[in-house]
Amino acid sequence: MPDKQICDGDYVRFRDFLERRCGIVLGENKQYLVRSRLSPLMRKHGYINLSDVVDEVVNEKCKGLVDEVVDAMTTNETLWFRDSYPFQLLAEEIFPKFKDRKQPLKIWSAACSSGQEPYSLAMTVLEFQRRYPSAFPGGVQILGTDISSEMLNRCKEGAYDSLSLSRGLSEERKRQFFDSVGDGVLAVKSELKRMVSFRSLNLLDPISSLGRFDIVFCRNVLIYFSSEMKSTILSRIASTLNHEGALFLGASESMSGLSNDFNLIRCPPGLYYSKK
Ligand SMILES: C[S@@+](CC[C@H](N)C(=O)[O-])C[C@H]1O[C@@H](n2cnc3c(N)ncnc32)[C@H](O)[C@@H]1O
Repeated sequence: MPDKQICDGDYVRFRDFLERRCGIVLGENKQYLVRSRLSPLMRKHGYINLSDVVDEVVNEKCKGLVDEVVDAMTTNETLWFRDSYPFQLLAEEIFPKFKDRKQPLKIWSAACSSGQEPYSLAMTVLEFQRRYPSAFPGGVQILGTDISSEMLNRCKEGAYDSLSLSRGLSEERKRQFFDSVGDGVLAVKSELKRMVSFRSLNLLDPISSLGRFDIVFCRNVLIYFSSEMKSTILSRIASTLNHEGALFLGASESMSGLSNDFNLIRCPPGLYYSKK
């Protein structure tokens, strides 16, 4: 019988490892979460004791297992046009400021999960260009990054089943931007795929190699990190943003007490942050 118990000492070691490796801070009593998230991995690799998995990953003996554990412990919940207001503000407030610029418009979806966010950004760009055919003469480049290799593979594949398609995507957008590939699965059209590239990135690592951006979506990921780590990441994002650059956080996330590099722009129905 597999032993999924985790003693207090192992739990503390595992929590330290997870925060060190990917920034995620587990609360005091989240042993059940570790048990339930790692059970499938124990079955897959034939581990009898959860403490053996903890030992392996804490000592970083096997990089493959470490990546799988990080994948299992991250929350990948996402949907199309999440919260709708960020996309509305882009089309109404932010894109008009950049639409005549000769250089490419550069957008970064940090922590892009399975791709719904960067592809929603691409659809918003294409819809804007239908209204303003000469917009963005220098082109638009969207970069999606995530720590999870499994999520990045899904992003690159760009094919979504009927359950994920039902979350936030109108019938009209399905018709315009997707091709059917059978069994209720739709794949994003090449027109969208061409605009978006994907790359592995741990937000704990320096980000200067990504270049500079005009718009950053860093939504529903900082919520898992410590205040110190949030501050560090926000300061790095500020340094990658161009003049008049805009940052969107998740609807329940706030920058209060974490950074002085941004102005809060309230713009009903939502808000965003502009670089000072
Ligand atoms: C809840 S999803 C958010 C997806 C999308 N931004 C949204 O708002 O719908 C959080 C994502 O953050 C990623 N993540 C967690 N820790 C990370 C880290 N240290 N660096 C980069 N991505 C990370 C996870 O793999 C997951 O895909």
